[in-house]
Amino acid sequence: MSFDDVSATTARFDYGTWRLQKGWKPLHVVDAEGCFFIDAAGKRYLDFSAQLMCCQLGHKNRAVIAAIEEQARQLAYIAPSYATDVRAKLSDLLTQVLPAGLEKFFYTTSGTDANEAAFKIARMVTGRTKILARYRSYHGSTMGSIAATGDFRRWSTEPAAKGQGVIFGPEVNCYKCSIQHTYPGCGIACADYLEHMIANESDVAAVFVEPVVGTNGVLVPPPEYFPKLRQICDRHGVLLIADEVMTGWGRTGEWFAVNHWNVKPDILTTAKGLTSAYAPLGLCATTAQIASYFDDHYFAHGHTYEAHPLMLAAAVAAIGEYRRLDLIARAREMGAYLGDKLRALKPKHPSIGDVRGIGLFWAVELVRAQQSKERVNSAAEKWQGKPLVVDQVAAEMMKNGVAIGSWISHFVIAPPLIITREEIDMAVAALDAALAIADNAVMSQASEFARA
Ligand SMILES: Cc1ncc(COP(=O)(O)O)c(C=O)c1O
Repeated sequence: MSFDDVSATTARFDYGTWRLQKGWKPLHVVDAEGCFFIDAAGKRYLDFSAQLMCCQLGHKNRAVIAAIEEQARQLAYIAPSYATDVRAKLSDLLTQVLPAGLEKFFYTTSGTDANEAAFKIARMVTGRTKILARYRSYHGSTMGSIAATGDFRRWSTEPAAKGQGVIFGPEVNCYKCSIQHTYPGCGIACADYLEHMIANESDVAAVFVEPVVGTNGVLVPPPEYFPKLRQICDRHGVLLIADEVMTGWGRTGEWFAVNHWNVKPDILTTAKGLTSAYAPLGLCATTAQIASYFDDHYFAHGHTYEAHPLMLAAAVAAIGEYRRLDLIARAREMGAYLGDKLRALKPKHPSIGDVRGIGLFWAVELVRAQQSKERVNSAAEKWQGKPLVVDQVAAEMMKNGVAIGSWISHFVIAPPLIITREEIDMAVAALDAALAIADNAVMSQASEFARA
């Protein structure tokens, strides 16, 4: 049955998106298994970006499904003020896998509300207001999180719907530095600039960062960056919040990305891979010391579905599966294989400016010219709904049965951690073939420019 048949026979078929919704016709998906999902016509697609970089365990993991079923039979819901076995189990497991010292947990239903909890905690505990975030970032779509989002998605809410109290500094981007430095001669000037901002702003409660910037380009910081940022925060009594919504749960080859640099944030938020997307659960984790502030201060951030037993059961099972299948080590091993294959594409394709990543988390960035590093499309073009080269490449890959995440001028490649070498080979071959579209686009742009 095609999508048209479904919509023709359904009184109201929810098209699934509000984003530039006019004319939008999503693919009708009916099934999924392992690293593949299947449309209504029976066509299979390799899920090369794990949907929204969240299906770490792939689809139809039996243990997670069984855990949700069992929990539904036993205790599907109870208000968050009650203690439950499943909550105790998950909290215990989290203390084993999170960076040491993060031992007090607030369970939300998504990444964005985990970040909202983090902002409230940081502001209440420090008694200060400002959150220092970075331009190339995404932190979620609710009021506080979109206000702290540096990328163009914030523009739509400005000024009317934007929360106050966020300031933006430069991101770390060693491919194309926004403050025109070159690593390592820079001495990590982008971190120094954040310190300059803290010193001159006053009233900064927290520095708020994705340890590896995700959607906005898989920007992996150099090894000195996070230890330096930790020191800066300590010097100024500012909290460090790590948004590990996308980078957590083995994505980068560690349980959490901050582990790569042995840095402990004061607050860590996460979601996505926490349940491998089998159930909507987010987490805001902090230290016992920070949490003790709320022993006698009211924390107004509860939800009806806070610490929902079905979601917690999914997380307990997902952590069990990460361990049973040794997926953190596997992400390192398969990530090295994937990285080699992606890097090998660069000499073949004039449209590729950079290939970068860590673990099973990679970006391939397309440029107009390798020398200028000018992105093949701009954020403004995406915001305005203009056709983007990366989307054309992604559409061609879909025709060939590979789904890939595309964003402005790069692909975000983040497959399920269970992906095999053969599946990686298949997906990279599809990318290799489809990049002819990008190569032609940048070469014709270059010849038009030469003629002008
Ligand atoms: C780094 C980061 N933070 C927060 C969010 C928001 O998470 P959610 O969509 O679960 O609200 C996302 C979503 O992609 C994200 O990538």
